[in-house]
Amino acid sequence: MNSFKYKTLFKVISEQTDLPDNAVIADLGCKDATFLLAFQEAFPEKIKSAVGVDITDKRFKDVKHKKPIKLKVMDCSKKLKFADNTFDFVFTKDMFECVSDKDLLVREIHRILKPGGVVISVNCDWDSVTYNGENKQLISKALQAYAVTKQPWMDDLDSWIGRRMYGFFNKSNLFESSVSVYNVVETDFTEGTFGYDLSMDIAWLYKENTGALKEKEYNEFIDNLKSAQNKGLYIFSKPYYIYKGIKK
Ligand SMILES: C[S@@+](CC[C@H](N)C(=O)[O-])C[C@H]1O[C@@H](n2cnc3c(N)ncnc32)[C@H](O)[C@@H]1O
Repeated sequence: MNSFKYKTLFKVISEQTDLPDNAVIADLGCKDATFLLAFQEAFPEKIKSAVGVDITDKRFKDVKHKKPIKLKVMDCSKKLKFADNTFDFVFTKDMFECVSDKDLLVREIHRILKPGGVVISVNCDWDSVTYNGENKQLISKALQAYAVTKQPWMDDLDSWIGRRMYGFFNKSNLFESSVSVYNVVETDFTEGTFGYDLSMDIAWLYKENTGALKEKEYNEFIDNLKSAQNKGLYIFSKPYYIYKGIKK
């Protein structure tokens, strides 16, 4: 995994990933296939073929292709264009909240997994993300606005998706379910960290005129984070729920 910030999260995920020999794997909502490539690097002897799908091919050009990755455009809100019992392992990260019919996706993941196949679904619980800083009300407002404001490419948005993921799969009775949480904690507001990158993403709320956060409020929010950093008070925390299901 080249991305420094995802290294620890991927380590926690890969420790829960037990692939058979000649594994056939998929990543749903793969974007630039960062995680698919990481699985390939972590389990080079095990993976026979890997496919990444996304609703858009916008980021496929950024993928440094390594055999045997295939990339396909596919809408995971609909019936997946894969045959029954195709995969040993299905991975999906931060895509589930964008899909409107989550029960359908759960059933589809079950259908495309081989008997005994494993799904790992990793989702940030956006309503549990925190920064420390002086202006509590403003920081909470910026985070809450980001958590609940739907971006154009999302069919749906659920800021509680992390805590809800276990239930979506478990209530289907199609999987042996377990869940764990990996919490990112950072004490430096510097480029390339989760906290810094999120604070930059939050700018879209005023840039796209969503009405959820004014430019003045955004600038004050960033000043709060910088000031917290300068005074040694900065903390950023972000929980990733890691759901693991074994096909019954
Ligand atoms: C927040 S990004 C996460 C990307 C990647 N899984 C990661 O964690 O680095 C969400 C991805 O899901 C994709 N996506 C959103 N809705 C989708 C859908 N209905 N079907 C397939 N992909 C979808 C988006 O295009 C985007 O690449």
